[in-house]
Amino acid sequence: MKRIGVLTSGGDAPGMNAAVRAVVRTGIHYGLEVFGIYQGYEGLITGKLVPLGTRDVGGILQRGGTILGSARCEEFKTEHGQQKALRILNQYDIDGLVVIGGNGSQRGSFALSKMGYPVVGVSSTIDNDLYGADVTIGVDTALNIALEAIDRLKTTASSHQRAFLVEVMGREHGYLALMAGISGGAEAVVIPEVEIDPEEIGTVIHEAYEKGKGHALVVVAEGATYNATRLMEYFKQHEERLGFSLRSTILGHVQRGGNPVASDRILATRLGAAAVENMINNNVGVMTAMRKGDISTISLDEVVANKKVIDLELFRLAKILD
Ligand code: ADP
Ligand code: F6P
Repeated sequence: MKRIGVLTSGGDAPGMNAAVRAVVRTGIHYGLEVFGIYQGYEGLITGKLVPLGTRDVGGILQRGGTILGSARCEEFKTEHGQQKALRILNQYDIDGLVVIGGNGSQRGSFALSKMGYPVVGVSSTIDNDLYGADVTIGVDTALNIALEAIDRLKTTASSHQRAFLVEVMGREHGYLALMAGISGGAEAVVIPEVEIDPEEIGTVIHEAYEKGKGHALVVVAEGATYNATRLMEYFKQHEERLGFSLRSTILGHVQRGGNPVASDRILATRLGAAAVENMINNNVGVMTAMRKGDISTISLDEVVANKKVIDLELFRLAKILD
């Protein structure tokens, strides 16, 4: 193995840059040439490849986003797109590819791997929805950003005795909402994995006031059936009967921006370095992940065949602490 490529794909996550830096510097440490591929799979099939040296990845450890850029690429989902990618990799004499990204991106890794190409994935997504990874790159930073917003909203909510909905990201997985709810002391958490009746939320808000609280705060995942928009619609319709009005804040992409916290920098550095070492040792078709406190690998086959399930015990905890 002489030359490897690295790309970042899907939703960016704070810490991706730290992972890119680790891949480049670890590769060079072991005598490899490392090519950066710009704009994820899109750049792979259109040939946006550039050699990266140690200095090219200087000063990025602390920066959010990804210097390589990211993309969603529909063409790569097709066999035709994947064949195009293989042609580019062969044209540039690239012997192996490191893919830093989330669920969809690792499906892409698996597709290339099934075609016999050596790929190692690096688990990176603020959603924390990758099977086989306890925690992924970007989660802790995103959680801290959400938490800061929640703390601020609680202050103003308390001054006015108001109820607030805060919507956090999470397309299919409620991890971020659940953890933000627990660490932010929310009165209720709404996640995609557990269907709710909006009346239940109304009751929780009432109970909060009955308990003498000065505010009520509900954390909602964007992917929940009753996300913030739908809950607002419902509560507006029933405002008179329920006797309170709600305000809603959708945090959106704010959570994906900003500098990675220490834990994300360390996790990304370790996962990126491990990806290169596994590649060199011919342990390919795998994803590097934090598992039970250790940096480890799991086969891509297993990653894509399974769905990560949320710990409902934590959901129960969130409920009893309200
Ligand atoms: P994330 O990796 O953050 O979950 P996406 O789900 O948008 O983000 O996936 C990122 C990209 O990965 C997609 O735009 C596509 O190029 C590729 N991808 C997603 N699913 C597949 C699939 N089933 N097969 C091949 N490539 C895929
Ligand atoms: O997958 C990460 C994520 O931030 C999800 O939580 C969210 O639903 C999605 O990406 C948003 O995607 P986009 O950046 O394309 O709007």
